[in-house]
Amino acid sequence: MIDAVGNPQSILLLGGTSEIGLATVRAFAADRALRVVLAARPGPRLDAARTELERLGCGVETVEFDATKLDTHADVVKQAFAGGDIDVAVVAFGLLGDNERGWTDVEHAVELAQVNYTATVSTGVALAERFREQGHGSIVAISSVAGERARRSNFVYGSTKAGMDAFYTGLTEALREHGVTVTIVRPGFVHSKMTEGMDPAPLATTPQAVADVVVDAVRNRKELVWAPAPMRFVMSALRHVPRPIFRKLPI
Ligand SMILES: NC(=O)c1ccc[n+]([C@@H]2O[C@H](COP(=O)([O-])OP(=O)(O)OC[C@H]3O[C@@H](n4cnc5c(N)ncnc54)[C@H](OP(=O)(O)O)[C@@H]3O)[C@@H](O)[C@H]2O)c1
Repeated sequence: MIDAVGNPQSILLLGGTSEIGLATVRAFAADRALRVVLAARPGPRLDAARTELERLGCGVETVEFDATKLDTHADVVKQAFAGGDIDVAVVAFGLLGDNERGWTDVEHAVELAQVNYTATVSTGVALAERFREQGHGSIVAISSVAGERARRSNFVYGSTKAGMDAFYTGLTEALREHGVTVTIVRPGFVHSKMTEGMDPAPLATTPQAVADVVVDAVRNRKELVWAPAPMRFVMSALRHVPRPIFRKLPI
């Protein structure tokens, strides 16, 4: 159970190799040894994540997880809960993809929609069932500012994040009466392997900084946060910029 000061004892990371997700687990592990379940595709990245967390004193379990294999997701979540309660589940998997391929190549478009939207819904339904039974805990959904207003340069990814964000916003309301908190996190540009080689956007941040925002949100039961925090005001302004001006902005 999450203790009186907001520290969990167990974390499930869906997207067990995500740099933002792993930074979040490390941030929670700084205060106490955790039971960690990493749900990810097997490979050297997952092995390295496991070794690093074990070095920090965490007990680590792994569950094979492929976001495109929708019919396995209920079982993935069931396996994650088999070893006991999960206090915090972080939905961190995602694919940035290539925007130009995303609207011209149906296979790539569908892959982005499946990983970023359909799979986050499918895992979200399975998580909701388990957390409802448990009657406590916190689900953290890593969304993106890209979903707040679609940009020409990134609208396929943005559209999938908009859908994901709306689903978890609804889940926030649905699970509140069951004692479960859902937190939507909207990062801006984060330096991680997802954005490697790209020019950073204004207010670019790091996985560690996003992790600090997540830890604070879970501890204080916040339901919607931006990372970094001032991104909230930037997006609030950008939402109202008229289209002819918005399309000329260098973003
Ligand atoms: N980086 C940014 O600028 C930024 C900004 C806003 C929001 N976000 C969101 O933050 C989340 C974490 O991203 P990150 O920055 O930590 O990037 P990351 O390190 O590249 O993490 C992405 C994760 O998604 C997993 N993944 C992708 N496709 C998958 C699939 N088919 N099945 C299972 N796992 C799959 C990756 O697994 P593998 O290691 O197996 O590929 C990896 O664990 C994502 O949802 C992303 O959309 C990122």
